[in-house]
Amino acid sequence: MAILVTGALGHIGMWVATRLLEEGDSVIAFDQHMAEFDRLATDELKAHSARIERETGDVTDPAAVEALFAKHAGKIDGVIHIASVAGVPAFTEQPRRFIDLNVMGTVNVLDAARTHGVKKFTFISSGAVYGTRQGPMKEADCPTPSDLYGATKLAGEEMTLKFGDTYGMETVCTRVYFVYGPGRRPDPMFPIYRWAFAPLDGVMGLSHESGADQMLDFTHVFDTAQGIVKAHRALPTKNRIYNITSGVAVRLGDVVDFVKDHLGTKTGITLGPGKAVPRGAPLDISRAKADLGFEPEFADIRNGIRHYHTWLQDSDYGKA
Ligand SMILES: NC(=O)c1ccc[n+]([C@@H]2O[C@H](COP(=O)([O-])OP(=O)(O)OC[C@H]3O[C@@H](n4cnc5c(N)ncnc54)[C@H](O)[C@@H]3O)[C@@H](O)[C@H]2O)c1
Repeated sequence: MAILVTGALGHIGMWVATRLLEEGDSVIAFDQHMAEFDRLATDELKAHSARIERETGDVTDPAAVEALFAKHAGKIDGVIHIASVAGVPAFTEQPRRFIDLNVMGTVNVLDAARTHGVKKFTFISSGAVYGTRQGPMKEADCPTPSDLYGATKLAGEEMTLKFGDTYGMETVCTRVYFVYGPGRRPDPMFPIYRWAFAPLDGVMGLSHESGADQMLDFTHVFDTAQGIVKAHRALPTKNRIYNITSGVAVRLGDVVDFVKDHLGTKTGITLGPGKAVPRGAPLDISRAKADLGFEPEFADIRNGIRHYHTWLQDSDYGKA
């Protein structure tokens, strides 16, 4: 038996797959870019190649998703659905395309799981469902997404939970947020990520008119993967939605300073006062701690920065 991970070559997907493999599972890794596994996968994921079945495909194509499940019929123990697009500027420019990906892509995977009798399904949602609310935000709070992206993640949650209710599947939604750390490819780095972490990768001298006072709940990708895998393994879970973050609000201007202090050199990152994006922090993670035994290893972002920098120094990832 194996666990199907969609979006398995993305930042979160790679570390979720790696953690599952390290814990002894086999993984069916599905991604639109799977043909580029050798270039895109981290060494940590490649180390488990013998127990990874690689599949290339598009979650927005129902026939391709159905063919995936048919090919592995009787072998899929559960699904962790991560393939999606985050709140990038292109979202506003091409709403239909990304709504199709985040909502109907999720429905395609849920429907194939249902028809093939797969009972366990974990959906990766986002703190974006809380919109601009200030933290600590609890899962029981009424969702108030402030943009189309957040609306698609809320719709994905509802589809996941209602498929569960209707067809007797065990489903859970994990709300992740501002994920950083090893294996994040430079290209899709959204601006906040670059201001905070690009100096660790040698990119200096970025500036923006605002953002220094933005409070965010940055989460190291190892902690994100830990929480997602724990939620999946706990199915049927006590609750159906879990915040999976560091649980700590950090000022973006302070993160810029922490990175500067860690490197011991000027980074030339200058942010003006105020916020840069319509998001709050932190997410309350007490439910995930109590129900799942989730315990973020990098709750102090200074430890996460140190670990990330060491990984970047030791790795050739993305440097070819
Ligand atoms: N990274 C974050 O900070 C963050 C925060 C909140 C929520 N999330 C959620 O988690 C998801 C994954 O985040 P990530 O950082 O790993 O993103 P990512 O862009 O690194 O990975 C997404 C993966 O999905 C694959 N994919 C995209 N469209 C596909 C399609 N149509 N068919 C098959 N595969 C497809 C991509 O090739 C990529 O490998 C996000 O899209 C978002 O919904 C992420």
